[in-house]
Amino acid sequence: MPAHTFHPSGPLGGTFQVPGDKSISHRAIMFGALAVGETRVSGLLEGEDVMATAAAMRAMGAQIEKTGAEWRIHGVGIGSLLEPKAALDMGNSGTSTRLLMGLTASHAITATFIGDASLSRRPMGRVIEPLSQMGAQIEASSGGTLPLLQRGAATPVPITYRLPVASAQVKSAVLLAGLNTPGITTVIEPVPTRDHTERMLAGFGARLEVTQEAGTRIIRIHGEAELRPQHVIVPGDPSSAAFFIVAALLVPGSDLVIENVGINPTRAGLIAVLQAMGGDITLLNNREVGGEPVADLRVRHSALTGIAIDPAVAPAMIDEFPVLFVAAALAQGTTTTTGLDELRVKESDRLATMAAALTLAGARVEEHEDGLTIHGTGGDPLPGTPPGAEVATRLDHRIAMSMAIAGLVSRNGVQIDDTAPIATSFPTFLALLAEATR
Ligand code: S3P
Repeated sequence: MPAHTFHPSGPLGGTFQVPGDKSISHRAIMFGALAVGETRVSGLLEGEDVMATAAAMRAMGAQIEKTGAEWRIHGVGIGSLLEPKAALDMGNSGTSTRLLMGLTASHAITATFIGDASLSRRPMGRVIEPLSQMGAQIEASSGGTLPLLQRGAATPVPITYRLPVASAQVKSAVLLAGLNTPGITTVIEPVPTRDHTERMLAGFGARLEVTQEAGTRIIRIHGEAELRPQHVIVPGDPSSAAFFIVAALLVPGSDLVIENVGINPTRAGLIAVLQAMGGDITLLNNREVGGEPVADLRVRHSALTGIAIDPAVAPAMIDEFPVLFVAAALAQGTTTTTGLDELRVKESDRLATMAAALTLAGARVEEHEDGLTIHGTGGDPLPGTPPGAEVATRLDHRIAMSMAIAGLVSRNGVQIDDTAPIATSFPTFLALLAEATR
């Protein structure tokens, strides 16, 4: 448990890139491992979560290796996954767990899924329900958690499933189970969530139709599919860029360019919210890379104003609330958030963890059942953590990185209990932070 103190910093400047998108990296490995032939992936995120997915796909027969800067994957073909000989260790990764449960639910193999203390608390009932309807047999620990044993269906049945929670992971689990299921599997999505699965499956040649009726998305996947190997180019992760965007907005004198950031509309909610708070963020060189919209972001220090955040934007910035709370703590006036119940079942309970962390650092925060209300300092630095006290990060990478940014805009620094979780999604965070604040 390496504790670390993040000290007040000078302005952020320069031009750099953040590592590849975590969601897209998981999917590139999974789909490459299902395509027959060689898939090449550039820009893959080499974080622990994605490596957990790679290890699982290897355990089920795929060859996955890095040559030079590129990853090469030799897939086994849909329907040909091997039964893993040992438990699949998902580490801290909810995405690996839920998507791989989906993928294996329609294969006649038995797999055990295990994970760390954080992942072992997270709800899996949301995927157990639809995958059981498709014919998988799942024995979970009490409360529908890991460790969990799944017997995949030998004769899976297609379903039409209306998502009860706005979750790209649940949507993807059902669609991936649909890949090896005869007929058409349908997911109805009342609130749109990130659409990387749909975009990339279409790129790999799956037959998939997406229609929209009165704001509801309907996704149909044709089963017993064959995927064609691809060259996947992974854009920079907007969820990783978020920490540097907020840091540059908050630290006086900052002027930073982050190149090659994914700006898929189902992910770009934070940029719009920060702009509405008065943040100076300019999108440059808008382009498309590997089927995903990408831009370079120029971010300059700005005086932010607190706002009431529309809960409808939540799915498009679901992972960015911890760092948004830091921005709100330095804004002028009050920021209110509601409709964020899902934050309670992320890597940690992000409402409780951030309320405690920001309060410890001297911010004025009220915690409600479904959101936080934050009274900002109007740009003055936060006091920082008291001597001898440290922020509890609770095995949550995004809490660690958010409070690192809070440290940059504190008087006495912010000490966090553990930087190790950062490696799940952003192994180069500390080095990039040092470079940007040099
Ligand atoms: C992800 C979806 C989101 C997000 C997670 C990655 C994905 O979870 O929080 O970090 O890659 O599909 P939910 O879809 O469960 O909200």
